[in-house]
Amino acid sequence: MPVVMRAPDDFHVHFRRPPLLDSIVADTARWFARALVMPNTVPPITTADRLTAYRREIEGAAGKDQSFEALLTFKVVPGLVPDEIRALAAAGAIGGKLYPQGVTTHSEDGIVDVEPLFAVFEVMEDLDLVLEIHAEAPGVFSLDREIAYLPSVERIVRRFPNLRIVIEHVSSRDMLTALADLPLRVAATVTVHHLLLTLDDVIGGDLRPHHFCKPVAKRPADRDALCAAVLSGDPRVFFGSDSAPHPRTAKESDCGCAGIYTAPVAIPLLAEFFERAGLPLTESSAPVRGACLESFVSRWGAEFYRLPLSERTITLCETEWVVPDDCGGIVPFRSGSQLRYDIAPGGKA
Ligand code: DOR
Ligand code: ZN
Repeated sequence: MPVVMRAPDDFHVHFRRPPLLDSIVADTARWFARALVMPNTVPPITTADRLTAYRREIEGAAGKDQSFEALLTFKVVPGLVPDEIRALAAAGAIGGKLYPQGVTTHSEDGIVDVEPLFAVFEVMEDLDLVLEIHAEAPGVFSLDREIAYLPSVERIVRRFPNLRIVIEHVSSRDMLTALADLPLRVAATVTVHHLLLTLDDVIGGDLRPHHFCKPVAKRPADRDALCAAVLSGDPRVFFGSDSAPHPRTAKESDCGCAGIYTAPVAIPLLAEFFERAGLPLTESSAPVRGACLESFVSRWGAEFYRLPLSERTITLCETEWVVPDDCGGIVPFRSGSQLRYDIAPGGKA
């Protein structure tokens, strides 16, 4: 039976720049109504002019697909002045992304201490922009990096009582536990790969560079806590894929890049994930505000960002397909494996 559901939103993607951008945008636009685009491009999105130029590149890549909307963010960097933040908001930015220094791809210009950024956060709070945080403390042992960043998050939360904050790609049980004690204006995104992988899928046997991302997949207990949070239907835990494409050569390298390309497979994998857990895919077959795929990918994030729910739909059909080995020079997550759901021909309605 085909499954009709509200078209999903992806609240965390990396689109890169041309020439990679074209096929990457197409892979997301095929499945998603909207995507929140990360600003760690080269050069980074730190000015209204760059944001506007980037939006044009993305719209050019989406071409005639008017059914897709890019939601843009800027990079929170030292020295960002209030007038520029206002200009970024006027140009359509809905959030600013904080990268601690050196914790991931293109974060060399990131933050060492949050205190010098308080003027930035104040303006963001005034303008009702969302602060997205890559919560990992530089220099800390990999598996402890996320929870080690909690004190920095808490300082921001305490000091800016109206600032909405998203802890991006939450990957540990401890951070989820901490989230429960933070105010409701703090939420978290969860990726599909953190629901499926542990560190052993990266380094437990042969080295699997296409499973390498930041934050790294952690212990089974961490993965299980993430699964439980998503399957509980907690509206503060919503989908952001962190789909992060790198050319095959940049991954299969002596010094390989972090990032997993999940855009082409995220929704089919999540559909199977909810089904394995015995939970429904759509809201019409779930208890009111109960857990289901559709709320996780098409409602909770939009509600947190105060965006109207998408009025488009997608139809999932049970059609087996094999994930290709190559999507425009990039190896997608689960390449070579068979998936059970695909989007019906015609795409979004
Ligand atoms: O694995 C990751 N890749 N994590 C990030 O935070 C950034 C991303 C990228 O841009 O490649
Ligand atoms: Zn990311």
